[in-house]
Amino acid sequence: MHITKQTIDQVDLRGKRVIIRVDFNVPLDDTLQITDDSRIRAALPTINHTVDEGGMVILCSHLGRPKGKPSPELSLAPVAKRLKRFLGKEVIFSPDCVGPKVKNLVSQLKPGDVLLLENLRFHPEEESNDEQFAAELASLGDVYINEAFGAAHRSHASTAGITKFIKTSAAGYLMKREVEYLEGAVEKPIRPFVAILGGAKVSGKIGVIENLGKKVDKVIIGGGMAFTFIKAMGLEIGRSMVEDDMLEFAKGIHQHALERGVKFYLPVDCVVAASLDPGAETKIVPTQEIPEGWYGMDIGPASVKLFSEAIQNAKTILWNGPMGMFERDAFARGTQAIAHAVANAYALTIVGGGDTALAVHRSGETDSMSFISTGGGAALQLLEGGEMPGLAALPDR
Ligand code: 3PG
Repeated sequence: MHITKQTIDQVDLRGKRVIIRVDFNVPLDDTLQITDDSRIRAALPTINHTVDEGGMVILCSHLGRPKGKPSPELSLAPVAKRLKRFLGKEVIFSPDCVGPKVKNLVSQLKPGDVLLLENLRFHPEEESNDEQFAAELASLGDVYINEAFGAAHRSHASTAGITKFIKTSAAGYLMKREVEYLEGAVEKPIRPFVAILGGAKVSGKIGVIENLGKKVDKVIIGGGMAFTFIKAMGLEIGRSMVEDDMLEFAKGIHQHALERGVKFYLPVDCVVAASLDPGAETKIVPTQEIPEGWYGMDIGPASVKLFSEAIQNAKTILWNGPMGMFERDAFARGTQAIAHAVANAYALTIVGGGDTALAVHRSGETDSMSFISTGGGAALQLLEGGEMPGLAALPDR
């Protein structure tokens, strides 16, 4: 499947000031060290291409949610350093994203130079999609490339508004890949198409469950959300996570799947813990035998076997959401085993970003997946079939 939007390959970048909106919203630890730089690495092909074509690169991004005020711990300065290492060349860092200082820095750029602007969200006008702010950003460049798939579900000045004020706009390579893999999987999957859905809450994934439920051949549910489905079947789930207001929805989804002939898989066993304290007693029980007062924390080995068998004949696998509380070693096995099973399948394997990408990384299977999305909320929105303002704002091919 091909993206319908104009892409960077169709744009002349030579000698142009090229504003590239990236998603450098990377996790930082207490000492402001970047703990996962995959979003920076994912944008390198577009940046390198622009440099090679003799464009002047002006990168802009948000980092965290500073609520419209400068906050030093959310500065993009550490990203500039990391990027410099990756590019093997100087990255000029601008202490703001608009204003005379930035204009001055831009005016001194030479073809092949790379400038990174400070966090866009230090200005409230970014998130309010203020026209004047968008116009000011646009005035820094001749061409706008949207490479920020992770923020494409936001209608902000730098992701959407800016395109009104600049003559040429296009999608970058990462944006193109994200859309082609995610949309392609959903719209034109090679069958059998299996969705593995997990994570804590049903309520956060209603749209995805509904939309994918109509398109897949099999759906596998794990993670905290599985307990809502299990309770909806009338089973006892102890103190496991549950959303009582989602029970009817869960019942309905299960029912619709059966009516449509979609195979529906829930955990048949789980790892339970006596309390939420680290080091609490744990055991493996069939789903029918979750003891009163215990907490379901991970899928068990029988579920791993069942799920692994269910994906064996898949040609397309889309995985979004961990199978348990994988952040704790005691409850990471189910998610890890599923990561290995997905990696070993002879299928196009697509991992929806966020937690699932981290879990795959921890399982050492990153390189075995066909595609891992850099988007969290954005990937979900696309999988729901929802509006993507950052994409909609780009011109068609
Ligand atoms: C993300 O991390 O999902 C994106 O960068 C979007 O961030 P946001 O949810 O703060 O808009």
